[in-house]
Amino acid sequence: MNILAIESSCDETAVAVVFDGRAVRSSLIASQVEEHKLYGGVVPEIASRRHAEAISGLCREALAAADMTLNDIDAVAVTAAPGLIGALLVGVNFAKGLAFSAGKPLVPVHHLRSHIAANYIAHPDLKPPFLCLVVSGGHTHLVQVEDYTKFTVLGKTRDDAAGECFDKAARAMGLPYPGGVHLNELAKDGDIHAFRLPHPKVEGSAFDFSFSGLKTAVLNQLNNAKQKGEDVCLPDLAASFQHTVVDILCTRTLRAAETVGAKTLVLAGGVSANTLLREEMTARCAARGITLYFPPLNLCGDNAAMVGAQAYYEYIAGHRADTALNAAATMPIENEF
Ligand code: KG4
Ligand code: ZN
Repeated sequence: MNILAIESSCDETAVAVVFDGRAVRSSLIASQVEEHKLYGGVVPEIASRRHAEAISGLCREALAAADMTLNDIDAVAVTAAPGLIGALLVGVNFAKGLAFSAGKPLVPVHHLRSHIAANYIAHPDLKPPFLCLVVSGGHTHLVQVEDYTKFTVLGKTRDDAAGECFDKAARAMGLPYPGGVHLNELAKDGDIHAFRLPHPKVEGSAFDFSFSGLKTAVLNQLNNAKQKGEDVCLPDLAASFQHTVVDILCTRTLRAAETVGAKTLVLAGGVSANTLLREEMTARCAARGITLYFPPLNLCGDNAAMVGAQAYYEYIAGHRADTALNAAATMPIENEF
């Protein structure tokens, strides 16, 4: 079946056509990054307006790129939570209008579920069950994917998400938005041992994360140097910071893998594009006989192909929405719409 999928949860308007959850017929992204860069972060009101301007034309283009018309589409899917509420509402309302005027079923998709599903596109052999580390700008979750639509959260961040921590540290270092990828680049020339940064303690759960203490430590290093009139070697600070984040992510994830006896581990979300995270997780999984999957770079960040992939499995599970569908800024990954 062909699904027309729509994504507008943050600062990318995206539309894709995906066949049977695994084959991408077309996938287009209208990024707003250049505009938000002027403000150092996403401005929600601007994001909603740009989505509203782009969405209709992008749908037409995605159908044309797949060499299809609406008649070839079997269902319309849309990211309905979590994300920026105004941004989500643009996609949800457009998808509702399109689906019900064309007489097609409407499938709501959870954003984090779709990040995980990006891996189904890239790895045709990948099937649940597996353990997944979802690391994005807004979330850091360790999820047991029991089936395509059944999830159990083993751990999550108590404060900042990993991507948010990358972005805040990058901003403090004077790097442009979105900072993660620029910090990743800067760290390539740095010494990981140059700065001793804390591994924040998390009481009460072996699988929860905490990143706000690490962010504060980076800010303190920069402020102390400024007060003393000293220069900070930014590549060294970036490398030490990135090494610490990756070590925290790998250590806790592999502890969880050992505890639940996971033999397959999957990375998902924007931060899974990080070079060191990919390398370090590959080495640690190989040493433990764990099979590791992560998405290709073009499927790590927000896109609609991953929405179409997850929507196929939601559709098979009988999940549909009617005209009462609403968007939600927050929603646990385990919940149904
Ligand atoms: O999944 P995503 O595209 O959007 C959300 O759902 O939040 O994730 C975006 C996050 C941003 O914080 C961005 O800085 C981070 O992913 N990111 C990276 C890299 N590429 C993107 N973080 C570290 N290293 C990267 N190479
Ligand atoms: Zn995302």
